[in-house]
Amino acid sequence: ENRDRDRDTNSASSHVLIFPLPYQGHVNSMLKLAELLSIAGLRVTFLNSDYNHHRLLSHSDVLTRFSRFPAFQFQTISDGLPLDNPRSAHQLLQLFDSLNATTKHLFRDRLLSLYPRPSSIIVDGAMTFAIDIAKELGVPVFAFRTISACAFWAYFCIPRLLQSCELPFNDEDMDKPIKSVPGMETFLRRRDLPSFCRAKDRSDPILQRVMTETLNAPRAAALILNTLEDLEGPILSQIRSHCPNLYTVGPLHALLNSQSQDHPPTPTQSGISSNSLWAEQRSCINWLDSHPAKSVVYVSFGSLAVVTKEEMIEFWHGLVKSEKPFLWVVRPGLVGLDSGAGAAAVEEELVEGTRERGCLVEWVPQEEVLSHRAVGAFLTHSGWNSTLESVFARVPMICWPYFADQQMNSREVMDEGARRDELRRRADEVGEMARTSVGDGGSSFSDLGRLVEDLRSIGS
Ligand code: UDX
Repeated sequence: ENRDRDRDTNSASSHVLIFPLPYQGHVNSMLKLAELLSIAGLRVTFLNSDYNHHRLLSHSDVLTRFSRFPAFQFQTISDGLPLDNPRSAHQLLQLFDSLNATTKHLFRDRLLSLYPRPSSIIVDGAMTFAIDIAKELGVPVFAFRTISACAFWAYFCIPRLLQSCELPFNDEDMDKPIKSVPGMETFLRRRDLPSFCRAKDRSDPILQRVMTETLNAPRAAALILNTLEDLEGPILSQIRSHCPNLYTVGPLHALLNSQSQDHPPTPTQSGISSNSLWAEQRSCINWLDSHPAKSVVYVSFGSLAVVTKEEMIEFWHGLVKSEKPFLWVVRPGLVGLDSGAGAAAVEEELVEGTRERGCLVEWVPQEEVLSHRAVGAFLTHSGWNSTLESVFARVPMICWPYFADQQMNSREVMDEGARRDELRRRADEVGEMARTSVGDGGSSFSDLGRLVEDLRSIGS
């Protein structure tokens, strides 16, 4: 009883501010962390961009879900970009510039005016400006990265890659082994490095930006990664030599689903939390219900990728020729307008030819789709959230990495084996690892407990 009282007293004074980079994949996983910390009894404020918050409230059950935590609150802040900016992969640099020019100052003012004052901040490690401000104001700051340990480590090793002249490289010989990323000498090739490493010039602004943001991680009091020890142990050891206070709490979605069972939200249709910035088309679940087990190829290129009309047609040919039924997410903005016809025209053209075997939708409840018995394979852009969700659902992946960390993730997945039976066996094995990690006493379960206690003790 005394312990419970101490815990409640301490929790009341611990106030954690969580601040994600304003993109779907970042908001999604950091909101899951916010929910887990709230379940553990901490006071949490989630600082969302105005633009994303409006979309989140329009398309998800997030307000109802978080209403069960009286001490939780959302706050919003401008990302500095005009409303009509599509905020896709093409505007990445623009977003970073705008965050540094506008959001940085707003963040400082917000921190000073928030009541109660945050006792700690968990900031997206891709936003060094927030680490700077937290340190200036003397608030302990933890960096959270949404990428895999392998991708983080590759970014971290960019200075070594430049020094050894393995970067920059030309487009030839993309299979050439890479030697300057310790721990990955046996399998890393040029083509597996994060897409930003394909820059022709060492002063390339995006290359410089991702390098700087990652090298700043050790300045934070701790690093939190959405991964699990059993999957990336050797690379986590490399990272620990620079960031010794490291928490591995992945897959966060699985940890949340298991911990929510004891603290159930208001029931939603699926029972799975939605943090979507687009409206989920649930009709796809009925479509999946009408298909046999493991028969459907699920296709999605995530929240940022922009593909050309030609690439869409090529995929469409492949999917139709596979003779498998397919569920394909064609997000608004997925098809770049610079390739001729507008997105709507392309979609119409594809729908015409896919009516028989395909189901095209704009956005789906992906965790639910991946855990549906009818899904047998996932054609993915290899975003880290999608990869973890697929691993947990034991669905084998066919990877078409688009950009950023995705090349690294697809290389990790390729480890899964080439033949169909091997692929399934490996998907089962890795899925089991993920289950163990989030179960009682598992590595991610324990690290989350340690994180909660550390955040609580900072506030007490
Ligand atoms: C980028 C990076 O590449 C990724 O590694 C990083 O961690 C976050 O940002 P993104 O395109 O957002 O990737 O992909 P991903 O990380 O896979 O995140 C997409 C999220 O959207 C997933 O959680 C997925 O479940 C969700 N999603 C996707 C849906 O809910 N519905 C869909 O139809 C498609």
